[in-house]
Amino acid sequence: MCGIIGFIGKDKAKESLYDGLKSMEYRGYDSAGMAINTGHGIEVRKQIGGVEELAAIIEDSDFDGNVGIGHIRWATHGVPSTPNAHPHQSQNKEIAIVHNGIIENYIEIKEWLIKEHNIEFLSETDSEVIAQLIGIFYEGDLLKAVNKAVEQMRGAYAIAVMANSEPDKLIAVRKDAPLIVGLGESNNFIASDIPAVLKHTRDIYLIENNETVLLKENEVKIFDGEGKEVSREIFHVTWDASAAEKGGYEHFMIKEIMEQPHAIAETLNQRINEDGEVSLDGINLSEEDINNINKIYIVACGTAYHAGLTGKYLIEKFVKIPVEVDIASEFRYREPLVDDKTLFIAISQSGETLDTLEALREAKRQGARILSVVNVVGSSVARDSDDVFYTWAGPEISVASTKAYTTQLVCMYLIALYMATKKKSISKEERARIISELQSVPAKLESLLENVDHIKALADKYYERESVFFIGRGLDVGASYEASLKLKEISYINSMAIAAGELKHGSIALVEDGTLIFTLASQDKLFEKTLSNIEEVKARGAEVIGVTKDTNLVIEKKADQVIYVPAATDEVMPLITVVPMQLFAYYVAKNRGTNVDQPKNLAKSVTVE
Ligand code: AGP
Repeated sequence: MCGIIGFIGKDKAKESLYDGLKSMEYRGYDSAGMAINTGHGIEVRKQIGGVEELAAIIEDSDFDGNVGIGHIRWATHGVPSTPNAHPHQSQNKEIAIVHNGIIENYIEIKEWLIKEHNIEFLSETDSEVIAQLIGIFYEGDLLKAVNKAVEQMRGAYAIAVMANSEPDKLIAVRKDAPLIVGLGESNNFIASDIPAVLKHTRDIYLIENNETVLLKENEVKIFDGEGKEVSREIFHVTWDASAAEKGGYEHFMIKEIMEQPHAIAETLNQRINEDGEVSLDGINLSEEDINNINKIYIVACGTAYHAGLTGKYLIEKFVKIPVEVDIASEFRYREPLVDDKTLFIAISQSGETLDTLEALREAKRQGARILSVVNVVGSSVARDSDDVFYTWAGPEISVASTKAYTTQLVCMYLIALYMATKKKSISKEERARIISELQSVPAKLESLLENVDHIKALADKYYERESVFFIGRGLDVGASYEASLKLKEISYINSMAIAAGELKHGSIALVEDGTLIFTLASQDKLFEKTLSNIEEVKARGAEVIGVTKDTNLVIEKKADQVIYVPAATDEVMPLITVVPMQLFAYYVAKNRGTNVDQPKNLAKSVTVE
């Protein structure tokens, strides 16, 4: 789980490589490095830390040239250390590579290289074997050597490779890890993600699995797995490069929280046509297809999984088809009952999460129809799906997912309404009611986000707590899970979410004097019952913050503190209640001085098991 970048062109490489790494820091940040052919051969600079730390060791003007590669790392094999940082070189220093992914058979290759070629390895990484293998095969033709090396490698990888003796070319290969080419004027780029090149070009080639790319200053050639040259249409990026910058905010996370009204409106509005009907671009499920489905799996990880929990509720309520929500890493390894009557819905912001991707592939092998809800256009999950529904949240940079989550929720509503309409399991009036409630959400969130002082004050009061609970019922359960994950991942507070009615079956033993419990009570039909849960925990000494509609003033009689949110119909409340929880997590983390956008041990795109 790393970011790779490569540059070749008429201009100097260092600045472009640096910009690219800076914009990909969300992909990893424990070590960073660059290799540039300075005219006196390939020189490598690398060290522990993020891009800022790298800047300090690449300052001198001697370290520059017209071709180079760069890397930002999130350690998988080997601790964060300078030898383990990329780029890696072959023993004779002819070859330098950067790699994102995992080489599954690296031990086998390493042993072979040591035994047969006396290679001395300098790092503990799987990636170094790539440089050494290419080094062994290199006989003056880099493309040939890379192809030969790739034949030996198993696993997932995007690599960029340069050779000392061929400073006029860069080679890159993609297998199950994202890779794009940026096309400039006599300046070409290879990168893990689009924002890495946006400062320099909006014209992109999306590289497919098993493809190899040859880049020169004025030429880009793409070859398929058989070595045949293929043509590719240019994908022109229309979104604003500033969408991937902080735009005056202190952190990406708060910027992305604030962008939610816009992101939700974008995701929603273009999918509701003039007649108030849901029209889903990218989804071709006919009435017959839907009637054929007898079971739905929603499979995802982390925050995306929480969106799936709400999806289950909505689809079962409106479409009347049983839904199972599964954690992708579990789904892969159990024996789920999948056949050609199964609809498999994958949810993923990045579209590169390996667990989700492999679960999807497993379901596909067993005959399921695959529908994915994805934010990153052209990502692996999107490509492997039959139907793709984009969230249109724009680039999400902060590791803690916020706007991707709320737009994933919007997609869950739209998919449920779309399927229900085709299946005739929802009346026109009911559909119109939900759509109009959904359309009111952006304005409601605008007003909520204009006044964050109360939430800041609560964060100031409680930020030193070491344990926090979140409870709720019905649609508040998924929101509680998400609220808890948000808090723990950026503030490192031990937090736990549980269905309020389940508390008494065990977890209530943890409640004692002063235990802080957020009680999400946004569901009118369950409100009374949730109030009873407040009493239940207060009787054991808990301090309760109630989160409810601004019409439910009665909660003040029970809770110690209240966060009121704009009222909407129960069904759409998950889109609203989660936002103050994101804000609370953000302000608590800020008060605790953690690295909000890049929390420890986490990375934005988890392309390892
Ligand atoms: C959310 O804040 C997390 N960073 C994480 O749980 C994330 O949602 C999960 O890793 C799934 O990522 P994906 O949506 O890119 O597949």
